[in-house]
Amino acid sequence: MASISKLSSWVNLKKHHVYLQDVQISHLFEDDAKRQEHFSLEALGMHFDYSRSRIDDKAMTLLYRFAEQSKIEDKIQALFKGERLNTSENKSVLHWMWREDKDEKVIIDQRNIMPVVLDARYQMKEFADKVVRGQLTGVTGKKILDVVHIGIGGSLLGVKTVVESLKQYHQIGVNIHFVSAVDGTEMDDLMYRLSPETTLFLVASKSFRTPEILALADRVKEWCDYLMGENAYKSHMIAMTATTKEAKRFGIKDEFVFPFSTQVGGRFSVWTTVGLTIVLALGWERYELFLAGGRSVDTLMKKDPVELNLPLRMALLSVWYRNFWQAEAKCIVPYAGRMKTFVPYLQQVFMESNGKTSDIDTAGVVFGGVGTDVQHSFFQALHQGTDLVPVDMILFGKPTGKDSEAHRHVSLQAMGQAEFLAFGRRKTKETKKYEYCLGNHPVHLLMVPELNPYTLGQLMAVYEYEVILEGFLWDINSFDQFGIEFGKEVYRRLEENEGLGEPSTRISLAKLQELS
Ligand code: F6P
Repeated sequence: MASISKLSSWVNLKKHHVYLQDVQISHLFEDDAKRQEHFSLEALGMHFDYSRSRIDDKAMTLLYRFAEQSKIEDKIQALFKGERLNTSENKSVLHWMWREDKDEKVIIDQRNIMPVVLDARYQMKEFADKVVRGQLTGVTGKKILDVVHIGIGGSLLGVKTVVESLKQYHQIGVNIHFVSAVDGTEMDDLMYRLSPETTLFLVASKSFRTPEILALADRVKEWCDYLMGENAYKSHMIAMTATTKEAKRFGIKDEFVFPFSTQVGGRFSVWTTVGLTIVLALGWERYELFLAGGRSVDTLMKKDPVELNLPLRMALLSVWYRNFWQAEAKCIVPYAGRMKTFVPYLQQVFMESNGKTSDIDTAGVVFGGVGTDVQHSFFQALHQGTDLVPVDMILFGKPTGKDSEAHRHVSLQAMGQAEFLAFGRRKTKETKKYEYCLGNHPVHLLMVPELNPYTLGQLMAVYEYEVILEGFLWDINSFDQFGIEFGKEVYRRLEENEGLGEPSTRISLAKLQELS
């Protein structure tokens, strides 16, 4: 496809941005008494209010024309047909299949491949039931009390987001811990506190070749055998992987290998057997609610790929600020204290999917944090800094904790910040330069009725689709990650022979060793 910057819609968006470049959000509100109604969308039980934004009707019309010229509907259909959209690796993109309804068929290459998912779910449910009921014990016959999820990137962040965010929905039974740090400190702390006899280690790794994870798994293997006897690890180590051969080669028992398919990107794998930890934390019913929430967004994508499609609206706004306002970052702020991992999870989904080479700007930096913490850190730069940074605030109707007064406080804090970001402080002749808060910062409110397994599944799938649709609009492959793969090669080369690195690398390594 010729560069998308040659599309008529793109050219017209460029022109319209020039017309709007001095626009004030406050003036847009003055010009349209019903602006909040006109620039809001109800979908999936959520309310998306993008009125506090540098956007008008004409820009929205042009953005939808751009979506049409990008053949967005054809690309969405291609996704669900299992076409090999991961062109560089010649793979389909099938993470959505892992949250499909059990009674549905998924026909890919004339074959219903849903049984793979159903078998995996059966295996997960049976295993988790046995653990929680104490039927599956450690090698010394003791009930499992702690589960350690070992993974990195997409093999940890999505699962950790779900388990931490839904703490109030945890079933009594096992304590869940997460480890990714290759310096071993998280494992140090756990090995100090936990008894190997009552601990299961779930090794989540799509490739089962990630050096950091294999190093941690080797350490666990040694620890188990040292304290409980030779091959004791076989009763305490589980693998969730798309590479069962490697897991078995490591020594994981066949019945403790939970496979998923290679046509699922690591950052999209929370819906697969990588989510076994979610089942252990929440129980099967709530796990199925989580899947159902994600599935509700698939249904929206199939039934209404354009007009009332929330992820597409979000993706088009993202493109508007990235490509026409040259915003170099976007900020995501969930106002829920237990959603700390949600932003790192989204950072990987956005930046590992869409941080790709192109002749137009693709993914910028995605950052953020939990509100109101961030109001006491980088929000200063948003209020008085020199960059344009669109902000997504995620708000919940019902309290996310036990204290309803605290919830009211959080809601008012968020709304106050949204007002201040959009409208700033009125400037007078006496206002000193250091007092300027000019506002005019785009801030979008995504309001969710309640934080629960179903709505969290929805929220994660909505953002997943925003990323995928952005990639469709940018005409890039959102499903590979060669930058990371090549980064792994550099490590491997140095691991084999430190002398193979750049001279500067050798000098710095030597300097570091001097400090040791
Ligand atoms: O960052 C690259 C990547 O492959 C991610 O896509 C993936 O989530 C992470 O590393 C871990 O990979 P694996 O699940 O194969 O251990």
